[in-house]
Amino acid sequence: MTAYDTLREQLSAQPRTWLVTGCAGFIGSNLLEALLRLGQTVIGLDNFSTGHQGNLDEVRQLVGDAAWARFTFIQGDIRDADACARAVNGVDYVLHQAALGSVPRSLDDPWNTHDNNINGFLRLLIASRDAGVKRFVYAASSSTYGDHPGLPKVEEQIGKPLSPYAVTKYVNELYGDVFARAYGVSAVGLRYFNVFGPRQDPNGAYAAVMPMWFAALLNNDTVYINGDGETSRDFCFVGNAVQANLLAATAPSLPEGHEVFNVAVGDRTTLNELYAAIREQVARWRPEAAQCQPVYRDFRAGDVRHSQADISKAASLLGYAPTHRVAEGLDIAAPWYAQLFGATA
Ligand SMILES: NC(=O)c1ccc[n+]([C@@H]2O[C@H](COP(=O)([O-])OP(=O)(O)OC[C@H]3O[C@@H](n4cnc5c(N)ncnc54)[C@H](O)[C@@H]3O)[C@@H](O)[C@H]2O)c1
Repeated sequence: MTAYDTLREQLSAQPRTWLVTGCAGFIGSNLLEALLRLGQTVIGLDNFSTGHQGNLDEVRQLVGDAAWARFTFIQGDIRDADACARAVNGVDYVLHQAALGSVPRSLDDPWNTHDNNINGFLRLLIASRDAGVKRFVYAASSSTYGDHPGLPKVEEQIGKPLSPYAVTKYVNELYGDVFARAYGVSAVGLRYFNVFGPRQDPNGAYAAVMPMWFAALLNNDTVYINGDGETSRDFCFVGNAVQANLLAATAPSLPEGHEVFNVAVGDRTTLNELYAAIREQVARWRPEAAQCQPVYRDFRAGDVRHSQADISKAASLLGYAPTHRVAEGLDIAAPWYAQLFGATA
């Protein structure tokens, strides 16, 4: 029995109240679904800037009306102190996901990324401190490793940030640390490494690589690979990120204060390998996709060449044990995208 199995049993027997910010987004809606399935009470806060009502509708349909009745949605902004105060009222654990993601978005519009990711973060952290929540768990990012060349990435060794987005995620960690020292807040930052899975948005200029490629291959559009395709990432299925959040929120053995953890699998997949795997998946619905070839173009500004996590800290302190490697995650993500784009086998 894993630590996560034990935790799920405990939570089912003794339900808690959780706040999930960014609950209409990709990771937030997966957290919402998992928590409602475990019999928890959930408050959600989202302003629909990059999230969608459709994600909430899908969760409702998946968990059923009885579970959905344990969910309260607040449409509001984390930069609004009143909305934050309302959202944290009576909450045991905060899982803070709301932010503007994407390195390119932050290079195009650094102010908005700063305003949402730093000012919004601080508003929610203050409200959580004032409400006396048991633990404040937040979405940090592997982008914090910046230009540090070491591989695999270990939590203590970071470099200089390569984008405004990375700055915001690093500032979140600094605030987590100082609120732990100054006010005794128990805070945990989860440095996600390229999370993927159902409900990750394939639309818009700032879509992540996996949904973008699923969309292109399912719609017979061109797939562009930035650089030579040998850039590598530690792609992490969203179910693993959900596990890390629940363990981080409840881990009794965690030292008091602030901790950061890598959340990934510990694997390295190149973009060329990823392209081949997605093309193979899509060929289940569109056999002609097997003949598609990508178009290579320039490297993208702000991208690091290789990224791979050392997950031993999360394994030893949280009992984190990823359940899905890339191929297993793709087996779940592919049918979701196929359905989204109306592909039939
Ligand atoms: N997806 C990844 O690979 C990845 C990697 C590293 C870190 N992260 C972080 O994980 C978190 C979740 O990312 P995601 O991929 O689910 O993104 P997402 O865009 O799907 O979800 C973010 C959600 O936050 C909401 N939101 C944004 N600003 C808000 C505000 N000011 N007030 C209220 N709601 C707001 C959006 O509407 C959206 O629903 C983010 O903090 C992101 O920076 C994600």
